[in-house]
Amino acid sequence: METNWTRLVTVRELGRRRKLRVEAGDTAIALFQTDDQIYAFRDLCVHQDRSLAKGTLLHGRVICPGHQWAFDLDTGYEEDQDLCQPTYAVKVEDDVVYVDLTRSPDYAETATSPAEVD
Ligand code: FES
Repeated sequence: METNWTRLVTVRELGRRRKLRVEAGDTAIALFQTDDQIYAFRDLCVHQDRSLAKGTLLHGRVICPGHQWAFDLDTGYEEDQDLCQPTYAVKVEDDVVYVDLTRSPDYAETATSPAEVD
């Protein structure tokens, strides 16, 4: 499968906040960091377009600040709504975070590949 890795930020820039909204071209992305993984979601919530980067990380989920929908970090799945927030594959090389924007953010399925943090 073709990939299109786009450089976003350094791990250090992300690590201080553990969440960060970044833009790659026209695409707004919410990055989240746990103790050992980095995850990338489309920033605008599938419900009503609130910024997930302003949400909260809690028990392996991203809680949207709009109406508290809880998206699984690994899959983007929202159990109560039975739908997914689009996610992006992530890789970290030399302390730089990249996401694969090959897939459309409107793509309904998930294919998250969270990146391990050294
Ligand atoms: S805008 Fe995210 S839950 Fe409503």
